[in-house]
Amino acid sequence: MWGGRFADGPSAIMREINASIPFDKALWRQDIAASKAHVAMLGKAGIVAAEDAGAISAGLDAVAAEYEADGVPEDWDHEDIHMTTEARLAELIGPVAGRLHTARSRNDQVATDFRLWVRDAFAQMDEGLAALQQALVRRAGEHADSIMPGFTHLQTAQPVTLGHHLMAYYEMFRRDRARIADAKERMNECPLGSAALAGTGFPIDREATAQALGFDRPTANSLDAVSDRDFALDFLWCCSATALHLSRLAEELILWASQPFGFIRLPDSLSTGSSIMPQKKNPDAAELVRGHSGRVIGSLTSLMITMKGLPLAYSKDMQDDKPPVFEAASLMGLSIAAMTGMIAGATFNTPRMRAAAELGYATATDLADWLVREGGIPFREAHHITGAAVKLAESRGIALDQLPLADLQAIDARITENVYAALSVDASVAARASYGGTAPEQVRRQVAAARGVLGME
Ligand code: ARG
Repeated sequence: MWGGRFADGPSAIMREINASIPFDKALWRQDIAASKAHVAMLGKAGIVAAEDAGAISAGLDAVAAEYEADGVPEDWDHEDIHMTTEARLAELIGPVAGRLHTARSRNDQVATDFRLWVRDAFAQMDEGLAALQQALVRRAGEHADSIMPGFTHLQTAQPVTLGHHLMAYYEMFRRDRARIADAKERMNECPLGSAALAGTGFPIDREATAQALGFDRPTANSLDAVSDRDFALDFLWCCSATALHLSRLAEELILWASQPFGFIRLPDSLSTGSSIMPQKKNPDAAELVRGHSGRVIGSLTSLMITMKGLPLAYSKDMQDDKPPVFEAASLMGLSIAAMTGMIAGATFNTPRMRAAAELGYATATDLADWLVREGGIPFREAHHITGAAVKLAESRGIALDQLPLADLQAIDARITENVYAALSVDASVAARASYGGTAPEQVRRQVAAARGVLGME
């Protein structure tokens, strides 16, 4: 396609290092769609005769049908998906195929194809996240009253409800989806017609091609359009943020499924056994979600480093933009689906969660708050008194509300019988009814709001 000024063909090494067809064949649908939009515009503008444009368009349909049936052939001589398609088109319809590349370059072609691909990938990820959110909201609704320990520093802090904990992840994925919506909006401009870097002398209609491909408008600057990969970086950042959230959730599932915690059982269908230890049921899917997050975040780093030193406009380095994006998209699809299955299918051992909250002195803050409220004691002093009570209970291996009143009064005479009502884990969570707090009524409010947003029922 470009051999006119060359005396020698490329060496074997050159052919191999240059070939992107092994991975960019994934762009074939986008490449055909963009070529059809381009040639229709060329025909309409009279840049290519209408009948030639029609023959090219029909030829592109024929190539697409072959790809659909047999896959895309991988011939390194054709370098990439753009040349592969054009070469096959020429075989099918003859020299008129050569008119397709009028007023176009592979530089604007690849930028357009890749944007179309990323736009679809965003849509798929958003759909997956919506399903995950629905699973979380359903389980949270079931467990608005289920009590578990809430942690800071992974030390028992205060009782919370399981529903509240699950809704925390709903919020993270809500922000992730907002990030996707924002990135999709920003990326939806069409580079086609920017040509190699400077635009073209042909009287093309960029509004028409942009519209035909579902873009909001053509890109404004041809140099930027062919050298910009912000949309791919935005995609990888969206993937990374979501992967980070998935990884934290996976980490919690792994901890909770471990025997010392015993808070959940993960579905058999998303666990594996051990070939040597018969008792084992391992949370492999969760571990792989956590593991994959490292690769996804690595793909963002990889493309940022590829891009950071490139002068305008196109450089071949940019061909390496695709593998990290393709890999991240496929890892995210799997991770989101696996997490949705784990959340939907987990069995929560709520008695055990409750017992852990009761045993961990999770209501110590409630005792301190009671002293402030009922005894008019300054919080710092109340904190100190409570610390003494925890120390005593701990030395006896009992819960705070199992300490006899006489012992509590020996620590501070202002403590009375009705303190016990404040020391139960139920009273503790019910008391935290501030907006966004863990009280069951607040969790039910969050769940109802989320159901509305997600259009559930
Ligand atoms: N396969 C190339 C890529 O993905 C297409 C653009 C090539 N342009 C060029 N001038 N060599 O980046």
